[in-house]
Amino acid sequence: MEKGRSFWELIWALLVLNLLCVLFIFNPPLNAKGNLGFFPNTASSDHGLAACLLEASSQEKTASPIFHPLPGTYDDPINVSLSCLTPGSTIYYTLDGSDPLTSSSRRQYRRAVNIAFTTVIKAVAIKEGLEASRVAEAKFVIRVSRPEAWPGPGEWHSLPAKIALSCSTPGASIFYTLDGSAPTRESLKYEAPIVLAKEELTSDKAKVIKAIAVKDDGSPDSFEATFVYQPKPDLIMLTDILQPGVDTKEVIEKVISEMTLEEKVRLVWGVSNSPIGAAGNTFAVPRLGIVSLELADGPAGVRLNGRTATAWPNPLTLASSWNVSLLEQIGAAVGREAKYYGVDIMLSPGMNIHRDPLGGRVFEYYAEDPLLAGKMAAAYIRGLENQGVGATMKHYAANNFENNRTNIDEIISERALREIYLPHWAMAIKEASPWAVMTAYNKVNGEWCAENKYLLQALKEFGFAGLVMSDWGGYHNPVSYARGFDLNMPGRSGWEKLLEAVQNKVISEENLNQAIADILRVMARTETFKRQIYDKSEFAAKKQIAEELKAAHKILAVEAEAEGIVLLKNAGDTLPLRNLSRVALIGSTAVPEFRTIGSSPAKGIIFEGGGSARVNVDPDDVVSLAAALEKSGLSVLPKNAVYAYLQEGLTEADAQFAAENSEAALILISRPGQEGVDNTSLELTAAEKDMIEKVGKAYHLVGKKVVVLLNVAYPMVVDWDDYADAIVYIGLPGTYGALAVAHVLTGRVNPSGKLVDTWPRVYSLAPTYGNMPKTDQQNITYSEDIFVGYRYYDYHPEAVKYPFGYGLSYTTFSYQNLRLNRTTFNISNPVEPLVVTVDVENTGQTAGKEVAELYIKQLGSRMKRPVKELKQFAKTRLLEPGEQENLTFILSLRDFAFWDEKAHAWTVTPGQYEILIGGTSTEAGLMATGVKARLQVRK
Ligand code: BGC
Repeated sequence: MEKGRSFWELIWALLVLNLLCVLFIFNPPLNAKGNLGFFPNTASSDHGLAACLLEASSQEKTASPIFHPLPGTYDDPINVSLSCLTPGSTIYYTLDGSDPLTSSSRRQYRRAVNIAFTTVIKAVAIKEGLEASRVAEAKFVIRVSRPEAWPGPGEWHSLPAKIALSCSTPGASIFYTLDGSAPTRESLKYEAPIVLAKEELTSDKAKVIKAIAVKDDGSPDSFEATFVYQPKPDLIMLTDILQPGVDTKEVIEKVISEMTLEEKVRLVWGVSNSPIGAAGNTFAVPRLGIVSLELADGPAGVRLNGRTATAWPNPLTLASSWNVSLLEQIGAAVGREAKYYGVDIMLSPGMNIHRDPLGGRVFEYYAEDPLLAGKMAAAYIRGLENQGVGATMKHYAANNFENNRTNIDEIISERALREIYLPHWAMAIKEASPWAVMTAYNKVNGEWCAENKYLLQALKEFGFAGLVMSDWGGYHNPVSYARGFDLNMPGRSGWEKLLEAVQNKVISEENLNQAIADILRVMARTETFKRQIYDKSEFAAKKQIAEELKAAHKILAVEAEAEGIVLLKNAGDTLPLRNLSRVALIGSTAVPEFRTIGSSPAKGIIFEGGGSARVNVDPDDVVSLAAALEKSGLSVLPKNAVYAYLQEGLTEADAQFAAENSEAALILISRPGQEGVDNTSLELTAAEKDMIEKVGKAYHLVGKKVVVLLNVAYPMVVDWDDYADAIVYIGLPGTYGALAVAHVLTGRVNPSGKLVDTWPRVYSLAPTYGNMPKTDQQNITYSEDIFVGYRYYDYHPEAVKYPFGYGLSYTTFSYQNLRLNRTTFNISNPVEPLVVTVDVENTGQTAGKEVAELYIKQLGSRMKRPVKELKQFAKTRLLEPGEQENLTFILSLRDFAFWDEKAHAWTVTPGQYEILIGGTSTEAGLMATGVKARLQVRK
């Protein structure tokens, strides 16, 4: 019986196999170029058939990965893509010969893998519920790279004394000749830099070096490289601009005319082998005084591999300070650390609009409102650039989410672009003259940002005079260079294609010249250029931030976090915690050991986000929340005498234990932030809510208070507040920010931060609900248009939990004496500004700072406009109880305008407007303590 069944099963299996193979023959898997896909371990399509048989024999197995292009011998580095016929499977691969199923060096396949030298790729596909595929193996033989010379050849003012040769293929040897003959494996073997004799240096004869690189692993020898060093005493160099009285523009033009086409192409194409661990660097042409620039991330501090720096509070939290001068100080501090390590240009600030709180990078950006984002960015840029370090505004434009960020096409109306997604770039350009802009990965209205005519043209219109670079891998086509784009990052290999594009007239050499002029203008401002630093070994040797910088920046970092903390709820003056000695710190993140949560590092608090904004810190420097509380004089309840914290999953008895043994509960709720993926929910988990409820009930039963600290990378839904007496947003506070949290809790600092986003009651009420892209979505229409953040919620107040601009204080403020220098504004006389003044008074018992927000509202507009818009803001100094400060705001006609899509221009309609000033954004909130005045705009 048993035997009989297996016989029929075998016949059945063979039939299925047959059918599968017939299907395969008639529908072979085609790769991108329409060639037959390659099955691993096979050399021809016959073997492909065999592989098919193998695959099909086990229906439970995932199909093996397929390589494209086919394994074989190639002259140049190639990009190999991997795919799998089993939908929904994940591919892992190794490049070091190890088993992709188990190896610790295996990587998940996300994008094409660059293969620059002979390599065996091993790959496996895995799908849940199925057996893993067979390991596919493919050998790509790549010709050894042509040797390179340092410094590079060409015409020299005076020849370099030493010339080093190198080859980017690991393990390759170089052979060279000095007499013009073709090098072979029998020629001089390169072992040390070639030293030119004194007479060679002074002679007017060219020095010729010819070289090849070889390797004994079956890779073909490199092509021959010829380096000619020709003396030219009247050579114009970029360093000539350092002479007094010379015309910079003219020198730059002449330097460009001295460059070879290859040098030009390489200068606009990053090198990215930074000696100081930066995200990228540029190509140097020493013969012309052109140095290599170091470009380092990022928005939360200087990120250099293998080097420590200060992690500042995340930008969203910095912006919550609404403190322009603070942002300028942070910029300067980042600039000092950058300079210390030899960084020329920072890849910050991040400036995208918080279109939706689920956007994976909102923690790296400033706000949902362009005016606030623009003011913060401009201040940071000024501070940074005053230190002689360049800023890069990124990611231009509309990189408002992460899902499919490198492919998605965002359809955005011109009005939404002009009113929401572009004004802050224009403002930062006007107020701070940033050195650089980084284009975003995404497309906007059909074109990649790196080649987007509309966006690149708009930059010019805003007066941008710096350099435009791509996000890492965000460059696609040479046409970018014809449209105002300057630098492909990280670049590395592939510049030859750009060279061909110029030779084939796809773009003109003049296009390159313009890009180079932009790069050189920026370069001329750097220390590296002014000091002509080519050897960076002194910088490369630094691994730790200098003690004096560290100490000074610690003070500023604590101040910054303190200014950004937002007090959301404070029932019955729960905070500050006065006359308490012992608190319970509850929540899994509070465990004060150094670890990674999601992809964000934590030590008793998630102190910074992951991805390119992650700063490398010395874990010993990071202050945990527990340590900070203890420093502030509060003892933290350890459970059962073990230094462990009560956390999610606690029982009623645990909560009761804590309530009996401490005087207040501090519950820490944490959410990491991460580039590359979007957030999935604004809700607390059931376990977190349960924890808050149990702790709330237990403490309230004995008349004690509960404080919830939101250590989160983005706004949260707060529907658990019945159990919390106080709620405090603390963001991702950076290396030292926990100290500031303790200062606010204990009343040493009075919180003065305000929300930079509207926090909805539930996410389903958000304007972009249902309109955030999925991971494979190809395009998205911004159907909410200009109604982003409070511009939407002002029409839907019922959806709001905490409004934009909202934040409590331990004191109260009132606004008086609103004065306008005139009550009419003439469109025909736009030059004369409108001057608005107001007095802000501290009417409470505690010294504090207030953020005054000025909104403009058009009354009876015939076209659909936001109810009101933020047009100015100011933060007072620390006001003692009873003290006043007079604030002045200057408005221009542009502040009353909307973008007219028909006219493609800003337009102001005559009519009645209101100016509202107060400490929040809702009209009811504004009117409770704030002031308003009317104004007539006339033709
Ligand atoms: C990020 C940029 C970053 C760059 C270099 C990219 O993935 O989007 O913000 O500057 O990497 O690290």
